Amino acid sequence: MNLGNYLALGIVLVRAPAEQVHRGCSSSRYTLEMTNRLAGKIALVTGIGAGIGRECALVFAREGAAVFGCDIDAARASATVAAAHSAGLAVEAIHPIDLTKPPDVQRYVDQAIERHGRIDVLVNAGAINPQFAPISEMSYERLWVPTMVGEVDLVFLMCKAVWPHLMAGGGGSIINFASVAALRGAEFAGMLAHSAGKGAVLAMTRQLAVEGGAHNIRANTIAPGLVATMATSSQGFTEGEKRDRIAASIPLRRIGRPEDIAYCALYLASDEASWVTGINIPVDGGTTAA
Ligand SMILES: NC(=O)c1ccc[n+]([C@@H]2O[C@H](COP(=O)([O-])OP(=O)(O)OC[C@H]3O[C@@H](n4cnc5c(N)ncnc54)[C@H](O)[C@@H]3O)[C@@H](O)[C@H]2O)c1
Repeated sequence: MNLGNYLALGIVLVRAPAEQVHRGCSSSRYTLEMTNRLAGKIALVTGIGAGIGRECALVFAREGAAVFGCDIDAARASATVAAAHSAGLAVEAIHPIDLTKPPDVQRYVDQAIERHGRIDVLVNAGAINPQFAPISEMSYERLWVPTMVGEVDLVFLMCKAVWPHLMAGGGGSIINFASVAALRGAEFAGMLAHSAGKGAVLAMTRQLAVEGGAHNIRANTIAPGLVATMATSSQGFTEGEKRDRIAASIPLRRIGRPEDIAYCALYLASDEASWVTGINIPVDGGTTAA
């Protein structure tokens, strides 16, 4: 397929000059010497338009992966691709893709295979904002069902669509996002549906690890604490008094940044984690230890 066909399909291709791929990475807070830990890997990252997905796409590309992303929000996904481009990183994306729609999921995976021929890593960072309410106000149709579809169904659909390609390629790594909400209750918001959804992702991923073991398919979850992203800022958790109250309850005394999570995903995606499957890693500033 030529470049014109890709653009017609809404795929944006950004290529880094080879000499720019091997280099250090500086974030707002950290300067790390990168070592090409994902060289040669094809990584699908969903939800690259914001938050954790965006940061995973950028960190993975800095580490030498060929990233093929997607998002339902074409403008935000394009902005991530442009940011990658200006940093000299190789990121491609197809958008809009609605991960709750099986035909869209299949189109995304088909395009990845057509473009790269195989898939090594899947990061399921795309998610619809959960609905927060205590049980007395939790309506089934309006709040519960959309939370389950937006947090659980879309992860299942991606895993199912990618699975045969991981098997065909001799294995790979799936990284899903649970949450501290899957491990403990919270007083600062009505986490009922969200905690059920994230508990489901955690349990589903453990089962995937068991089913995938014989095929060298690894599946792990990261359980983030409160991370400043589009999702959490839209709920008012990342500013002012609410943020300060939450931060004060975290042993490391701050809320998370997307790169805190992306560096854990980087490890799980890399061959350094080749004997690591079926685990959940809380990355939460110590929240679940307290
Ligand atoms: N931010 C946190 O504090 C936190 C804590 C625990 C777990 N998590 C989990 O981490 C993951 C990423 O969260 P985030 O905070 O970065 O979210 P975010 O809302 O900042 O970003 C999610 C991205 O997914 C995209 N998206 C939404 N619906 C989509 C759909 N139907 N199809 C395709 N793309 C879609 C959005 O456009 C957005 O770009 C989620 O699973 C979330 O539940 C986040």
